[in-house]
Amino acid sequence: MGMNKNDFVFGVSTAAHQVEGGNVNDWSEWEIKNAERLAKEAPEKFEKLVPDWDLIKDQATNASNYISGNAVDHFNKYPEDIHIMKEMGVKVFRFSIEWSRIEPKENEWSEEAFRHYEDVIHKLKENGIEPWVTLWHRTNPLWIRDIGDWSNGKTVDYFLRYVEKIVSRFRGSVKVWMPLNEPIMSMGGGYLTGEYPPNRKNIFLAYRVLNNFVSAHNRTYELIHTYQKDAFVGMPHAGFYLEAYENKLVNRLTVKLGHYFANWLILDKIKKHSDFIGVQYYTRGIVNWFRQVQGSGVKTDMGWEVYPPGLYNFMKLAWERYHLPMVVTENGVTDSRDLIRAKAISAHVEQIMKARSEGVDVRGYLYWSLLDNLEWDKGFWPKFGLVSVDRNTMARTVRESAYTFKKIIEENKNKQLT
Ligand code: BGC
Repeated sequence: MGMNKNDFVFGVSTAAHQVEGGNVNDWSEWEIKNAERLAKEAPEKFEKLVPDWDLIKDQATNASNYISGNAVDHFNKYPEDIHIMKEMGVKVFRFSIEWSRIEPKENEWSEEAFRHYEDVIHKLKENGIEPWVTLWHRTNPLWIRDIGDWSNGKTVDYFLRYVEKIVSRFRGSVKVWMPLNEPIMSMGGGYLTGEYPPNRKNIFLAYRVLNNFVSAHNRTYELIHTYQKDAFVGMPHAGFYLEAYENKLVNRLTVKLGHYFANWLILDKIKKHSDFIGVQYYTRGIVNWFRQVQGSGVKTDMGWEVYPPGLYNFMKLAWERYHLPMVVTENGVTDSRDLIRAKAISAHVEQIMKARSEGVDVRGYLYWSLLDNLEWDKGFWPKFGLVSVDRNTMARTVRESAYTFKKIIEENKNKQLT
């Protein structure tokens, strides 16, 4: 099932490396090399930023927090996780297929890995949940890392070969595809700020990486549509939303520049190869000159301001520019005590419905994330999950806010896919 106009679906999002456990890729190796450093740097990075340092201190300063290891064992526990989703009433599960599992060595394909994802898809459908597949979510097989990952044009060809294998195998059961998750974030983190692997700071390489991502997205779009006329293909994009402090002219210019480089530059290049735009929205930025000013809204455990109108405003801007359908493919809060999650979800859904009532074609809301998981270079201390996980026993506990989410889904039933 694809997506029709007027449909509205609720679901949850995850990504392979953050939940599966047992992955061997560029990130897993990087984590092992960098865990000690990240634990040491934590006080300096987070003590001032997070509202409650005492809450996270022990985990954030412990090197094992930064190593994905068994993650939250979703690789083995997916039947239980699917059961939880069914109980919650979600109709869509967005997850990613891990390239390094499917093709651990160049042109060596793991039938076991194909079967694993086949079973995930099968069990989802059996439980009335649509599988929405991300084909790449930040991680690369080691052999791709070794050729310079996305700075090497060959990676695009290798990626397309992998995509073809996946799409030809799963086209009968998957209709919604997301080739690359947030290329701008991976390019920025890996090649501009250097926080993420491969820790480069080189604007020329960054530009090359960006163009390779664009070409991979556009070619994947074409390829999927040769296999499936009715496929629904889009890029999950980090909706970067800025506001001008005191509405000063100079700040308004900074906002325009920021929006252009973080959003429109890439979206302009892929708009003709997009059935929809995936909007991933977490917070706003307020700019005064080139500095960031703190907003007055409630803060998450990570210190990010919760600002639901920013989602509405971002979608209005994107709608005016592209007139493409949108799906909120990620939105969520880190909230280990589950104090603000339920309210945050309702408030963001309200903003979406407001945009819809004004003619903006938004077709769904996926909460990030189903489970507590590995928040990349921050490790496991940030808790995004509707479901918490005890990593010693891997036991799942459904948080109270999941019941609010269930209620929201029920209240909007008439807008659900049938
Ligand atoms: C990414 C996720 C990440 C989330 C929260 C998005 O940028 O797609 O992988 O965990 O935001 O930071």
